[in-house]
Amino acid sequence: MEPLPAQSGRESPFAADVRAGLTARRKTLPPKYFYDELGSQLFEAICALPEYYLTRCETEILSQHAPAIASYLPRPTSIVELGSGSSVKTRYLLEALLARQETLLYQPIDISESMLSQSTRHLLLDYPNLRIQAQAGDYTHGLGAVKRAQDGALLVLFLGSNIGNYDPHEAQRLLTTLQRSLRPGDLLLLGADLKKAPALLEAAYDDALGVTAAFNRNLLVRINRELRADFDLKKFAHRAHYNVEDGRVEMYLVSQEVQEVHLRSLNISVQFQRGETIHTENSWKFDLEQLQMLAAQSGFAAVHSWLDQGKHFSCNLWQVATARHLPV
Ligand code: AVI
Repeated sequence: MEPLPAQSGRESPFAADVRAGLTARRKTLPPKYFYDELGSQLFEAICALPEYYLTRCETEILSQHAPAIASYLPRPTSIVELGSGSSVKTRYLLEALLARQETLLYQPIDISESMLSQSTRHLLLDYPNLRIQAQAGDYTHGLGAVKRAQDGALLVLFLGSNIGNYDPHEAQRLLTTLQRSLRPGDLLLLGADLKKAPALLEAAYDDALGVTAAFNRNLLVRINRELRADFDLKKFAHRAHYNVEDGRVEMYLVSQEVQEVHLRSLNISVQFQRGETIHTENSWKFDLEQLQMLAAQSGFAAVHSWLDQGKHFSCNLWQVATARHLPV
């Protein structure tokens, strides 16, 4: 590794994170940077893959149980969705709520502006009684601007097992922050992937078509473009491994040879050994007991969990503890 140059203090968060990640002893890159425009499209394609059961199972749960979920909600309820993507699965819930109340305020928050404007346009055409206030940006910062119907409750949707991309202590911190921004009686519907056979998990993160590999490598495309780097994509292989002990799928980019990569905007060169990895993502898997514990640790009362028929995935309804729920 070449010595690091003095910092101007003006580095973007992306540049700073890439610098820190690629100069660490064990190289890493944060998964939040997957989602540039192309990365968001690739993720939508992943959701349609036969191996990626998560989206199908969650859609099955919502399509079958949306009215049951709605029956736990006060009237009127507004919906906020963190990381809404295309909002396709959400339609089942929107319909179930619109069947019980005249109008519905839906506030999707997503990093991809184009995805957000496309889904908003389609939803408004299909549901005349829906009002939408969309926010483009990082959902961990978007909660401050959320609105609620007067005297109504808020249902926060955090679907797709997005929670699984946070390490356990970060997940608890994120959920606790969310809980603190809500009022007693507000609810959270958390989609969480469940532990299962390693072969099924690894296939879901290393599909035959190579879409997940492209999604992973797109991080290097982004670094090349935004930080004037010269990663040669052909020299990095995609690897997905289920770490049974920790209960998480780990994704890596593996250097296929000894090589040096230059990041001109950062003024650094990075050396790779053959077989050396960049750890790009963890996707944690849960069991129902862990989810119950997570609810309690972050100040929620677990209300009900729904599973798909194959018991691969869970949707968990939690409520901000009211005085009634608080331990005495
Ligand atoms: C967004 N997130 C829940 C996905 C997951 O399953 O961890 C991201 C992903 N990475 C590879 N495939 C999908």
